[in-house]
Amino acid sequence: MLPFCSCWKTGLLLLLLLAVGVRESLQAEEKTCDLVGEKDKESKSELALLTRLKPLFNKSFQSTVGQGSDTYMYVFRVCREASNHSSGAGLVQINSNGKETVVGRLNETHIFNGSNWIMLIYKGGDEYDNHCGKEQRRAVVMISCNRRTLADNFNPVSEERGKVQDCFYLFEMDSSLACSPEVSHLSVGSILLVTFASLVAVYIIGGFLYQRLVVGAKGMEQFPHLAFWQDLGNLVADGCDFVCRSKPRSVPAAYRGVGDDQLGEESEERDDHLLPM
Ligand SMILES: *[C@@H]1O[C@H](CO)[C@@H](O)[C@H](O)[C@H]1NC(C)=O
Ligand SMILES: *[C@@H]1O[C@H](CO)[C@@H](O)[C@H](O)[C@H]1NC(C)=O
Ligand SMILES: *[C@@H]1O[C@H](CO)[C@@H](O)[C@H](O)[C@H]1NC(C)=O
Ligand SMILES: *[C@@H]1O[C@H](CO)[C@@H](O)[C@H](O)[C@H]1NC(C)=O
Repeated sequence: MLPFCSCWKTGLLLLLLLAVGVRESLQAEEKTCDLVGEKDKESKSELALLTRLKPLFNKSFQSTVGQGSDTYMYVFRVCREASNHSSGAGLVQINSNGKETVVGRLNETHIFNGSNWIMLIYKGGDEYDNHCGKEQRRAVVMISCNRRTLADNFNPVSEERGKVQDCFYLFEMDSSLACSPEVSHLSVGSILLVTFASLVAVYIIGGFLYQRLVVGAKGMEQFPHLAFWQDLGNLVADGCDFVCRSKPRSVPAAYRGVGDDQLGEESEERDDHLLPM
């Protein structure tokens, strides 16, 4: 009897916990952008873009235009409700009397991008009273690449309502999230070059310190492997002289014999220069 009883009680407890958990998760579920299509039939690129914009979900953007009784404030949020009064609104317009008009709703989100911009569209806003065939309002937000800010400069651009349908409110905003990922400007060649230069620097500085502190050298002697490099320099100079020079080394004209008969002798003289020293 006892095991059954405790079992029964545990079961009830679990059930209770489950119920609480489900309720919590339902409550915690915020309204967010809903793309066209069922849960797993949504466009992959649209989902990827929404993920990219996640750092903005937290933020709320406002901009006020007009003057006097023609003042309008626009409130915009990315994938979060822009207003506490209008359910599911992603972008609302508030006029000078405090009347709210939903320009676009989260549950009709469309999004696409180019190399340095993202276009976010909320459809399903409140219907026009007499413009645009009384269709639902629509917000179009152009987010342009600006690497200096996470998100800034939210501004209304224009309101197109002179068409019989497909009207829209146009907004713009700057964000670094709209930028294409920065490609590394270092090619393999420059990386090799930088590595080589660093090694040379380490060699010279390390060698210098060694010669100075350990060996106790002074002046030019502090240069690491001085003799070797001097020899190498001479060898390279000789090699260059041998390979590259097409005419005899210019010797002061007065010293040179002019007669043809002397030419053979002179060329022999010249060869002597090329012998290793
Ligand atoms: C939203 O902002 C809060 C602080 O204001 C921060 O702790 C949190 O990590 C942010 N969430 C996202 C998804 O950026
Ligand atoms: C909505 O309500 C919350 C808290 O009640 C407040 O912090 C927030 O500013 C309100 N948002 C708007 C757009 O009024
Ligand atoms: C979006 O939400 C509004 C109101 O919450 C509703 O009237 C409309 O049918 C919804 N649209 C879609 C596509 O679910
Ligand atoms: C749009 O963004 C994706 C990453 O989210 C990127 O791979 C793609 O290249 C972008 N489209 C264009 C035209 O740059």
